[in-house]
Amino acid sequence: SEHVSQRRLPSRHRFFADLSQCLFDFVIELLPTTEEMAVKENVRKLLERLIRTIEPESRLLSFGSTANGFSLRNSDMDLCCLIDSEERLSATDLVTMLGDLLERETKFHVKPLPHARIPIVKLSLDPSPGLPLGIACDIGFENRLALENTRLLMCYAMIDPTRVRTLVLFLKVWSKRRKINSPYKGTLSSYGYVLLVIYFLVHVKNPPILPNLQQMPPLRPISKEDTHLAGYNTWFFDDIELLRTRWHSDNNESVAELLIDFFRYFARDFSYNTGVASIRAGLLKKTAKGWQNDLSSSRYNDSRERNRLCIEDPFELDFNVGRCVTKDGIYTIRGEFMRASRILANRPERAVVALAELCA
Ligand code: GTP
Ligand code: MG
Repeated sequence: SEHVSQRRLPSRHRFFADLSQCLFDFVIELLPTTEEMAVKENVRKLLERLIRTIEPESRLLSFGSTANGFSLRNSDMDLCCLIDSEERLSATDLVTMLGDLLERETKFHVKPLPHARIPIVKLSLDPSPGLPLGIACDIGFENRLALENTRLLMCYAMIDPTRVRTLVLFLKVWSKRRKINSPYKGTLSSYGYVLLVIYFLVHVKNPPILPNLQQMPPLRPISKEDTHLAGYNTWFFDDIELLRTRWHSDNNESVAELLIDFFRYFARDFSYNTGVASIRAGLLKKTAKGWQNDLSSSRYNDSRERNRLCIEDPFELDFNVGRCVTKDGIYTIRGEFMRASRILANRPERAVVALAELCA
């Protein structure tokens, strides 16, 4: 009977319903298995035990996709080591010592980068039955801002899990398959794409799909010490249980409609030359942030190259998450938004085929 009622829908609605269903099915196939998540948690515990032989007061926490609800099968692990004691080794010394220790005691391939801008140890593990594609893991130190932005994204994911997670996960897969998810090669990180999706759902969609967690009134008065980290305000409304009863979006668009609209907005409407996407404050001007890429300001620095695509970090307001995107990169990314828009605008007969073509 469901089949019959679907047939009676006007073709536009039938297409949106089909495409939404295909998007759910597509994304579910790509989620990590429980086994993979268990193996990763065991790896985290093992590494934490080892690190504690160097720094007994330390904790090793997950951040990034393993902790924010936007994890895909075989995604790498981002780990952050926090040390609770006053006297601690420098990140550089820790990276060197931990690198030596892991090399001696584990089967990981180890690459310590003690002198990088952010010192990290890179680890990888060869494939095994539990992890058919192996594992890749970065361990950093004291990166508390990354833990907080992970928690912010996780809260957004929990407000409207179906629509937000499906959109984000699909865009992550799509951007990887279309090869526009490599900050090292001039395109955008996953973190950048996630921020674009949240910006779109909070500030572009009207009525909004998500509330602005950073601008909601706090339940109790809060002091500056409680909300600031390294000089940045990291406060946001994080009582998700309460929000789930209080927040209700008046926007009932399906995942398919939102995806189509997202592609159209970033293909056509977003002002790449002058605009900054901010999940905290909506659409800002590059000039207001000193991020303009006009010739006069580029004479003495590389702001012209750094600020082609501007995405404000939710907490580090002076930090452009899109800074790695080059001139070619933005051209390619925008071209991909246009291509995706075009494929979906034709409302192809079969949604499955359209999705396959989109990610081909
Ligand atoms: P995949 O690894 O592709 O599955 O995605 P991911 O969700 O782990 O995203 P990504 O690897 O891009 O980033 C992981 C985490 O690192 C993010 O959740 C952020 O906490 C942090 N991060 C990544 N890039 C930046 C950045 O440019 N600035 C800041 N402040 N944090 C970043
Ligand atoms: Mg990651």
